[in-house]
Amino acid sequence: MKTYLCLAVSLLAGGSAFAIEPAPALKDAFAKDFRIGAAISAGMTKPGHPAYALLLQQFNSITPANLLKWGPYNPKPGVFNEEAAETYFAFGQAHGMYTVGHTLFWHQQTPPWVFQNENGGDASRAQLLQRMRERVNHLAKLYGTRTAAWDVVNEAFLDDGTLRVSPFTRILGDDFLPEAFRIAQEELPSSVTFLYNDYNLEAPAKVQAVVREIGKLRSLGLRVDAVGNQAHWRLESPTIAEIEASLLALKAANVKVHYTELDIEVLPRAVSGAEITARAALTADNNPYPNGLPPAVQEKLAQRYAAIFALFHKHADVIERVTFWGVTDADSWLNNWPVRGRTNYPLLFDRAGQPKPGLEAVLGVVAKQP
Ligand code: GLA
Repeated sequence: MKTYLCLAVSLLAGGSAFAIEPAPALKDAFAKDFRIGAAISAGMTKPGHPAYALLLQQFNSITPANLLKWGPYNPKPGVFNEEAAETYFAFGQAHGMYTVGHTLFWHQQTPPWVFQNENGGDASRAQLLQRMRERVNHLAKLYGTRTAAWDVVNEAFLDDGTLRVSPFTRILGDDFLPEAFRIAQEELPSSVTFLYNDYNLEAPAKVQAVVREIGKLRSLGLRVDAVGNQAHWRLESPTIAEIEASLLALKAANVKVHYTELDIEVLPRAVSGAEITARAALTADNNPYPNGLPPAVQEKLAQRYAAIFALFHKHADVIERVTFWGVTDADSWLNNWPVRGRTNYPLLFDRAGQPKPGLEAVLGVVAKQP
């Protein structure tokens, strides 16, 4: 208790509490509940990176923000960016991290050649399936047992519960997910946890569609271990009740839940979730805090994080991992989406790597309860 008090006092005084009296690290505070992860770049695995020390101190799981996606990893047939991937897996292994693969199949950040035939038209079903299998086979050979979990498919459903029209579904139709999970199961070691990953899973139609799809996959003898809820949330929405309802729907479907990309938007924004094609121009109105977050908003953010982690703690039997999309506010994608060049504050560590009041609030959840 004393530690938390000192932390609070020091934070109120504007000091860097962790340097003076260390509070428990996030990963230790929640060790009995779930793993705590961060999305990283290869650069963050180097001691010179500003986020390096925090990454080692606070987190026990890593997700590659970009480097294993089809485009960044394999931009042209036969060209593989193995160096960054090797750096990532070696770091994970050296530090005993739960090392996530993100993502095998996503309609974004996948190069056009994947979907094309020799004449530039749509690849045939057989061609696409072959390329999908080669991708997983390659990743399995190099990083197989070093990968704890794979996001097998990312964002295949729309908020209304329909299957998204994408090059994958144009060529494979409703078989996209079964084929994807079949390939993963046949190519990857059985030790790997398989996830379906998406945003806006608090939309009832969307989570129900995911639950139905899991039933379909399982009826085909395919393994789905967990659902990744991206958790790109905002200060006011979704509500805690909506988050809980979504979690309970997944629990009832007998899958584990990983919160895979958590961040909390504090700036005004018209779109929810993470539809990366949504864009807006920079204005003074949509970038209101270029010089720092006002204390009242900082406090709202802390309370929001505390409420979310209180819910996570309550449902720790279903939740296996909570991963933040970034380590500090400086490396958040929300500085550039859906508006490029904003100053955003979605994480628990500020631009200087210092704990924000939200960190103390989150730690308070487990300090108070058994
Ligand atoms: C989605 C993807 C992530 C990342 C974020 C934003 O949520 O799953 O890999 O690209 O968008 O950067």
